[in-house]
Amino acid sequence: MARLSSLNRSVEGKVAIVTGAASGMGRATARLFADEGALVAACDFNGDGVRQVVDEITAAGSKARAWQLDVSDETAVNAFVADVVAQFGGLDILVNNAGISAGGPVFSDDYGERWARTLAVNLTAMTYTIRAALPHLRQSSSPRIINIASTEGLGATAGNSPYTAAKHGVIGLTRGLAVELGREGITVNAICPGPIRTGMTQAIPEEAKVQYARRRTALGRYGDPEEVAQMTLNLALPASSFVTGVAIPVDGGLTIRRA
Ligand code: NAI
Repeated sequence: MARLSSLNRSVEGKVAIVTGAASGMGRATARLFADEGALVAACDFNGDGVRQVVDEITAAGSKARAWQLDVSDETAVNAFVADVVAQFGGLDILVNNAGISAGGPVFSDDYGERWARTLAVNLTAMTYTIRAALPHLRQSSSPRIINIASTEGLGATAGNSPYTAAKHGVIGLTRGLAVELGREGITVNAICPGPIRTGMTQAIPEEAKVQYARRRTALGRYGDPEEVAQMTLNLALPASSFVTGVAIPVDGGLTIRRA
């Protein structure tokens, strides 16, 4: 049967960096991209965790390697990206997923430290990976940058202003770079997950999760990490060549629900 369409819906053979790949959405993204034939460079602060994810991927017959680093350390990020390119021969896709939930009320004594750490990991670190990746992405036939923001990048929850500011910043960075890099064919997009069952939300009691999701989302439930990873994959496809500068909610309808 002859195909009548021309754009490619496969990441087979593409080299993809996934930050924060030891847990939650990063883990799901690394596994999904590997399932789809990408060569996955998985990094995380948690070395044992990311090595375990890579072991799962290689045991399944797919390709991935693990790196342990703190994405807020620019020197470490530069060395990591150079090593990925040396080992895999190039770079096509950058998924900036690593993040922490360290916000707090504005009058808390340690607000300054929370602000600094949250901005460093959730926003500034993305500029390190992007700047290190750019020379290599420029060599790719379908270069993609996907930044994981949050519905906190579109709205706000009380008592969480460092996190909210960082995630609004992720969307601003995404839009700014989409415009700056568009002429080179590099797409830059953000995803805004709603409530997802990951390490970050593990401490929230089950009953509170269920109540919150029923009250706030259209679908009435928490999401699973792979449901976000599937959207990340969509944006990473060569076929997604005319999508740039968007911030897509993957939130079960949280951002549109009024009552
Ligand atoms: P998670 O806690 O399960 O995974 C985050 C991973 O990032 C962990 O493996 C952690 O070790 C790693 N990490 C944290 N700081 C790091 C650093 N400095 N260097 C390297 N790795 C680091 O959390 P989850 O939920 O999977 O988070 C992924 C992204 O999704 C984050 O950017 C988060 O802000 C965002 N998000 C999460 C939501 C949720 O409901 N779980 C909702 C909206 C956004």
